[in-house]
Amino acid sequence: MTETFVITGTDTGVGKTVFAAALTNALGSYYWKPVQSGLDDGTDSQTVCRLADAPSERIVAEAYKLSTPASPHLSSRIDGTSIDPRRLVPPNVDGPLVIEGAGGLLVPLSERTVFADVFAEWQIPVILCTRTTLGTINHTLLSIEAMRHRAIPILGVAFIGDENLETESIISTLGGVRSLGRLPLLRSLTATRLRRVFHDNFDLTAFAGARP
Ligand SMILES: Nc1ncnc2c1ncn2[C@@H]1O[C@H](COP(=O)(O)OP(=O)(O)O)[C@@H](O)[C@H]1O
Ligand SMILES: [Mg+2]
Repeated sequence: MTETFVITGTDTGVGKTVFAAALTNALGSYYWKPVQSGLDDGTDSQTVCRLADAPSERIVAEAYKLSTPASPHLSSRIDGTSIDPRRLVPPNVDGPLVIEGAGGLLVPLSERTVFADVFAEWQIPVILCTRTTLGTINHTLLSIEAMRHRAIPILGVAFIGDENLETESIISTLGGVRSLGRLPLLRSLTATRLRRVFHDNFDLTAFAGARP
């Protein structure tokens, strides 16, 4: 298998899907969202297809598509199903793969399993998407601690938002992680603009050679 990355975040709504779209475009990769909770406002796969300007064949079908925008343990219950972590196996594809989790690391898939348990099983390098606004240092360091506790490989942190050099620096220092770059908030979010901004703010060599 070539380069595979897992994208997680400190929270829901931090910008994982937008970052995933930028990375999918930059690597010409496949994209997989194993568990999608909430279908009415469009899915993350649809957003990535559009923002990465990716051919639909590169968007791998979700393992679980759940109708309610809630924690997967609850949305699966509402849909009368349950998530079997053994079904969450990264697809075998003929190129790089970007996988996006749901919410953050300790989001429950069931009453027994959280997303981080699945990541620990996979042993695929994780990119932690995190805000640059006040409160992020605590959330980011807690997430890093949770990953280390489970021996999840960490590729680095992708910051999202306005520049905040002190925050980025203290997270790298105390968390012992690499800053991969920062995606600014774009007023007009288009595939063209996102591609340019990603190239200007991230060094693609940081994503080279990462293997499960
Ligand atoms: N870099 C960005 N510039 C502008 N808007 C963004 C950016 N990143 C995220 N957003 C917006 O913030 C919201 C949440 O982003 P999303 O990527 O869906 O977060 P997550 O996948 O972490 O839940 C969306 O409306 C998205 O368009
Ligand atoms: Mg998302």
